[in-house]
Amino acid sequence: MHQSDNRPVLLSGIQPSGNLLIGHYVGAMRNWVRLQHEYDSLFMLVDLHAITVRQDPEALRARCKDFVALYIACGIDPDQSDIFIQSHLPEHSELAWVLNCYTYMGELNRMTQFKDKSQRHSANINVGLFDYPVLMAADILLYGTDLVPVGHDQKQHLELTRDLAERFNNLYGEVFKVPEPFIPEHGGRIMSLQDPTAKMSKSDDNESNVIGLLDPPNRVRKKIRRAVTDSDMEIRFDPEEKPGVSNLISLMSAVTDRSVAEVEADYQGEGYGTLKKDLGEAMVAFLEPIQARFEEIRGDDAEMTRILKKGADRARERAQPVMRRVRDAVGLVAPGS
Ligand code: AQP
Repeated sequence: MHQSDNRPVLLSGIQPSGNLLIGHYVGAMRNWVRLQHEYDSLFMLVDLHAITVRQDPEALRARCKDFVALYIACGIDPDQSDIFIQSHLPEHSELAWVLNCYTYMGELNRMTQFKDKSQRHSANINVGLFDYPVLMAADILLYGTDLVPVGHDQKQHLELTRDLAERFNNLYGEVFKVPEPFIPEHGGRIMSLQDPTAKMSKSDDNESNVIGLLDPPNRVRKKIRRAVTDSDMEIRFDPEEKPGVSNLISLMSAVTDRSVAEVEADYQGEGYGTLKKDLGEAMVAFLEPIQARFEEIRGDDAEMTRILKKGADRARERAQPVMRRVRDAVGLVAPGS
């Protein structure tokens, strides 16, 4: 049984819509590893969100297991935190449906991520893509979440979650805990290697733009060697004027655990070639133990199954009472009553 503790509940997740990248490590997983000791933490794999974009079924299934193994390889301790797959709990879909009935079309029409994604996937602007923020609200509200670490691009979705929780509570009493946004101290947005004005994204079709956590060493070195910089030769952190070089500095800072200022100071007077070569080696050295641990965990099916079952069981213990309150509030007949 889950020993309930008094720490605030922290929830976060990544959608398995492509390979896990160094950007996800820097922007999300690195913080999860730090925060898991301080908070009662749940880390999800949001596979229902991933299918808002067309996926190859076999690849999606394999990727979900890869993500779980990578969460652990990067330092999430499955005995300390709960790791689970969203679709293993039908409560997510059920609550999303109920919340749909309390969400206005106008609210979802304003979501900038929907506008962006419908441009990128113009051949498949499905209702799920439109409804994505409501499913996200359900994910959060099911667990009495106190804190949701979010990047800038998810803030609007979190605002909607808070509005829905308050709307529902105003109608029916204290059914949901209203979550707080939480911008972790160590953020950092990692940009595309070839287009450093755009975010490094797992659904990017151009392999040269991204560094995968499972990329082999020579591919990593090559991609960094070819990363876009600029024509003046100064190593200086200035994302507006020098997005390419600044991105390399951010990456170096993240994988060597030095501040941006320290990296800048260390490379005073050096050329871009030296920075790229050193970053290539630092990145390879950083990824090596993660990849070795990944192989170990991913090869142990029984252990993966155990971890996911434990995560889902504990998630269910939290979700079911919330769902019972919701059903009761809106007037659904309880089975057997
Ligand atoms: N480049 C990045 N730099 C820093 N943080 C990042 N995150 C994503 N990309 C970067 C953070 O990782 C988490 C994953 O969020 P997600 O899976 O919900 O999807 P996303 O933010 O939409 O990531 P992608 O890679 O861009 O996915 P696709 O291409 O499928 O839309 C979030 O915490 C995010 O901030």
